[in-house]
Amino acid sequence: MTRSHFTAALSGVFSMKKIRTNALQQLAVFLTCALVLKITLNVIVSYRDYLPPNFDSDFLRGRQLYFFGSYRWAFYMHIAAGPCSLVLGMILLSEQFRLRFSCWHRRLGRIQTAVILLLLTPSGLWMAFYSHTGAIAGSGFAALAVGTGVCRPCARARTRPRFSTGIRHRRPVASSSERIDQKTIRSP
Ligand code: HEM
Repeated sequence: MTRSHFTAALSGVFSMKKIRTNALQQLAVFLTCALVLKITLNVIVSYRDYLPPNFDSDFLRGRQLYFFGSYRWAFYMHIAAGPCSLVLGMILLSEQFRLRFSCWHRRLGRIQTAVILLLLTPSGLWMAFYSHTGAIAGSGFAALAVGTGVCRPCARARTRPRFSTGIRHRRPVASSSERIDQKTIRSP
């Protein structure tokens, strides 16, 4: 077997690997979108118990005592911001949308950041103190709120343009298999 045969065989193996990775990525995005849509629909269906508040419904049962205080504001803010942040996240996942409407991709990213940091996490943190499922669940929700609040700016910092040339995030970076591929193809 000559060196060029070996090179061709190796690059074939790496191309197959790349196709498989792309297919898995697409499957992961599809499953994520299906889950997001299901959760969003479930939440929207549950609005009939929240507008106006039905204190016989599963979630609002036993919450009359404090609902009409600050909790109400946090609650409505939360159930409006939650589905918005999920749907925006789903749009932002789309590679086609990002490539065709990069300006809108950036705008929606900023809107999603604002919705998460200004509405979703503060309201979730507030509601965590009233959780009916106990202190452990309440602390878990509080940790989720703080964690989400910290992770969102970190993600934003990572995707900020790093080069004055205007190259933005998700710049196609050669994967290790592609790098080996290029190296082997270059050498005769
Ligand atoms: C940072 C992320 C989040 C935190 C910290 C958080 C926190 C909470 C807390 C503490 C409660 C009250 C639980 C209880 O009292 O037992 C709650 C309820 C709720 N959350 Fe979130 N949440 C977050 C994300 C979301 C998202 C993305 C959605 C979008 C669908 C959402 C939708 C709801 C709804 C609809 C309720 C009312 C309960 C129900 O109908 O099941 N939350 N959340």
